[in-house]
Amino acid sequence: MTILVTGGAGFIGSNFVLDWLAADGEPVVNLDALTYAGNLHNLASLAGDARHVFVKGDIGDRALVDRLLAEHRPRAIVNFAAESHVDRSILGPGAFIKTNVEGTFTLLEAARVHLQSLDLAARESFRFLHVSTDEVYGSLPPGAPAFTEEHVYEPNSPYSASKAASDHLVRAWHHTYGLPVLTTNCSNNYGPFHFPEKLIPLVIVNALAGKPLPVYGDGQQIRDWLYVGDHCAAIRTVLARGRLGETYNVGGWNEKANIEIVKTICALLDELRPDAAGPRARLITHVKDRPGHDRRYAIDARKIERELGWRPAETFETGIRKTVQWYLDHADWVAQVQSGAYREWLDANYGARSAS
Ligand code: NAD
Ligand code: DAU
Repeated sequence: MTILVTGGAGFIGSNFVLDWLAADGEPVVNLDALTYAGNLHNLASLAGDARHVFVKGDIGDRALVDRLLAEHRPRAIVNFAAESHVDRSILGPGAFIKTNVEGTFTLLEAARVHLQSLDLAARESFRFLHVSTDEVYGSLPPGAPAFTEEHVYEPNSPYSASKAASDHLVRAWHHTYGLPVLTTNCSNNYGPFHFPEKLIPLVIVNALAGKPLPVYGDGQQIRDWLYVGDHCAAIRTVLARGRLGETYNVGGWNEKANIEIVKTICALLDELRPDAAGPRARLITHVKDRPGHDRRYAIDARKIERELGWRPAETFETGIRKTVQWYLDHADWVAQVQSGAYREWLDANYGARSAS
């Protein structure tokens, strides 16, 4: 028995692989293109572990995917591989269409053909789990009910449009070809190995370096935050017991405004690593807003709880404390990811956003 994980060197994928092997022990073939977001250091603790087979490659490479399926005969594919950063999708949407849309299409086609080569028992137990996002539902007005699985798709960024397209492909491959699919739509994750281009890790590493903490616009945009370990547990649960063809919303019941997140991180750092220059909140800098910025996301995660018994274990307070402590304890990891390419990204994204 083995599973194929794509994008398993990224933030959530690497947490999932580590969590899966610790919780379950079933071998993993990990297919990852190692883009700027993929990092094998995240998986360093698996060195020499025969249960983890890493393959550097693209989910859009059909010959490679066919070979991996034929060689390893996985009982499931868990698809994390994606371009995942909204700001990058605004500055360069092409890669998002290539990986998120065309790459998912290639995986679905390979899985469809592979399924036909399996005996009845293997075919019945096979699963294709597609990891998606709450951003496909668009932006919620203040006070509106949280996104359920029935909410209309209204993606607003190139990133969310490409994820919405991939969700539609997954749905169609189930309805048309009977591919045994499951889809999860999750809210904002945070935790260890989070690449510091996203809000929470960016604020932690900038605050530790005494650099400005860029808050887009008024900072009153709301996200629903989930500790990454809880997301991994949700995916394991859906893979084990999810109903075929269903989608499951996954969220942390933690709606918070960005400015509140930034202030919480500042206060935690002031407590855990005081700065002689004064409170970190002095570094908060309001900058030009993200074009088309979604104002609010909120996930109604009652379906996955009711049907499958999953609920997040962490509160935001416990999860963010663990996360800040992880970054304090892993200065080597932070230094390693802050390569030349990372600095180029900071220039591209923040160079044009003067403080307001
Ligand atoms: P990430 O950007 O940290 O990692 C993506 C990984 O995919 C990287 O390791 C990268 O090398 C790999 N990859 C990119 N293109 C590839 C390709 N063509 N072939 C093979 N591998 C490729 O992303 P993440 O934050 O870990 O997100 C993982 C998945 O979860 C994505 O599908 C994302 O849409 C979804 N998601 C993320 C969040 C979040 O808050 N981060 C929330 C909900 C859903
Ligand atoms: O909702 C799930 C999504 O969450 C995932 O699908 C995406 O892959 C993931 O990147 C994340 O998208 P966001 O755009 O919400 O995450 P990000 O960390 O980029 O931004 C969080 C909020 O903080 C958002 O409102 C923009 C704001 N922000 C972000 C950055 C990087 C700032 O104010 N300043 C910043 O410098």
